[in-house]
Amino acid sequence: MCDDNEMKQPIRVAVTGAAGNIGYALLWRIASGDCFGADQPVILQLLEIPPGMQRLDGVIMELKDSAFPLVHGMVGTDDPNIAFNEADAIFLVGSRPRTKDMDRSDLVAANGPIFVGQGKAIDAVASPNVKVITVGNPCNTNALIACANAPSIPPQQFTAMTRLDQNRAVGQMAERADVPASKIHDVFIWGNHANTMYPDPRFASVEGKNATDVFDEEWLQGAFLDTVATRGKAIIEARGASSAASAASAATDHMRDWWQGSNGRIVSMALPSEGWYGVPEGLVFSFPCRCENGEITVVDDLPVDAFAQSKIDENIAALLEERGAVSELLG
Ligand code: NAD
Ligand code: LMR
Repeated sequence: MCDDNEMKQPIRVAVTGAAGNIGYALLWRIASGDCFGADQPVILQLLEIPPGMQRLDGVIMELKDSAFPLVHGMVGTDDPNIAFNEADAIFLVGSRPRTKDMDRSDLVAANGPIFVGQGKAIDAVASPNVKVITVGNPCNTNALIACANAPSIPPQQFTAMTRLDQNRAVGQMAERADVPASKIHDVFIWGNHANTMYPDPRFASVEGKNATDVFDEEWLQGAFLDTVATRGKAIIEARGASSAASAASAATDHMRDWWQGSNGRIVSMALPSEGWYGVPEGLVFSFPCRCENGEITVVDDLPVDAFAQSKIDENIAALLEERGAVSELLG
């Protein structure tokens, strides 16, 4: 930990749904420096809806009681214009989780409208360089809605989280190969944070060996793919609540790599397509990305085989359908 006088100027970090389950895990990771760096002070700007404000008061008390040296200020509010004011980074988490009998896309009617008002508030008051990660489901389409309602912010500053799916893919490979997760590199997710997602193993390595040589195709295209794609539901069934600590950890990884760089590694991020891999322009789609100097670059020259193409096409179709369902929210 740095001495106070070696530290940078504080940045403003907004978190919505801050009194929810993900918020409760995420705020401690941000406050401890895991996301923006051990020398980067933060001012936390926490948004809730009125019924959540009492719980948010409790969360703020606990953050104070944690005495984090990097936390240089905190505000709790139910007004997005206060929460997003001059924000440098925003975690859009606040929204309803699904129950075990729902698909994530069933949440769009309840959650989609949230991202209209929040997109407009981001447009009005956030830093013009703000980096936004959308976690609330269905996260790809909610990011699209927020982006469409913030016309003054470049679309590439709006992302959605598929890092949890990537981390799940790493976890499955590490377990099967009986190696630590740190030995698995460059497995990434195409498409939607939904059952159609494609965890692509073709460029991944396991202790430096090609994942496609280490694992058989039947597992990679069968149990591996299915386990990763349906893990959210399996957790809801087991825990009686949707993933929270792992989601917070993935959001930390996503924003850390965007802010501090991915060190040449491929990471999964959903962002508005510029036509990469034939994905229609504007669809918020998860691509293989690298991050450097605060910028995300889509790795746009990977070969696509017939299986990968069929999965990409499936995700395009699903996301076009979601976009059609929210057309009246797109400004
Ligand atoms: P939660 O119910 O525990 O917490 C959500 C919080 O958001 C609540 O405190 C609620 O009061 C607040 N909220 C609701 N509407 C709001 C609004 N308009 N503005 C600000 N706050 C608002 O839910 P959770 O477990 O924290 O999950 C939050 C969301 O994240 C859900 O939609 C869930 O499906 C999603 N999720 C996404 C991923 C992913 O990988 N993308 C992973 C896990 C969960
Ligand atoms: C997850 O993948 O764990 C989250 O999106 C929660 C869910 O509804 O599956």
